[in-house]
Amino acid sequence: MQLYIDSAVPQEVEKMMALGIIDGVTTNPSLAAKAGMTYKEAVAKILKIVPDNISLEVLSTDAPGMIREGRALTKMGKNVVIKLPTTEEGLKALKVLTKTGIRVNMTLVFSANQALLVAKLGAYIVSPFIGRLDDIGQTGIDLIDEIRQIYDNYGFKTKILFASVRSPLHVKQAALASADIATCPYDVLEKLVKHPLTDIGLKKFLDDFKESGQKPLV
Ligand code: E4P
Repeated sequence: MQLYIDSAVPQEVEKMMALGIIDGVTTNPSLAAKAGMTYKEAVAKILKIVPDNISLEVLSTDAPGMIREGRALTKMGKNVVIKLPTTEEGLKALKVLTKTGIRVNMTLVFSANQALLVAKLGAYIVSPFIGRLDDIGQTGIDLIDEIRQIYDNYGFKTKILFASVRSPLHVKQAALASADIATCPYDVLEKLVKHPLTDIGLKKFLDDFKESGQKPLV
């Protein structure tokens, strides 16, 4: 499973790239605003850090506007993927952009039928927002299971991206449900490697070695 960072903070992206655990980035204007940066400024920096799979969101809501913006954003780099909302206008834009080879990530997906439509139109990525379904008392992971089954039934190649990750548990759920990608906030990525028993185990091992008075092997 690929891991993306869901962030518009270049320093966060840089740190996770250096750790070698991320394969891409999802951004949106809200994330940039939260980071106190303009979307343009944040994107320009991130495009230089990550070699591929950087999803940039359009701001237009009509198909001609989305197509215009999508084409312009694609010119910013070969590593760009265009993120479009899953609306009727978004579907029209998806059809046009994919025909010219532009990779599109269809976002704000909340149902299996939306996922079916975007796969039929050749989306590169589908982004079901699992955390937001959990937030309203639904079992978000069921949606990943449904989409996986539908895509496998018909051999759709669209990649399933588990979006709106809230915790390490979501990342485990994504992997168990055979999602292709999970996009995680920085703090969730940080938590993935941590386990208290690892720290306790390491301390004990080093203390025992020190107490034995032995010399290190090398
Ligand atoms: C992904 O593309 C979205 O930016 C993100 O996962 C949304 O997460 P949220 O529900 O925490 O805003």
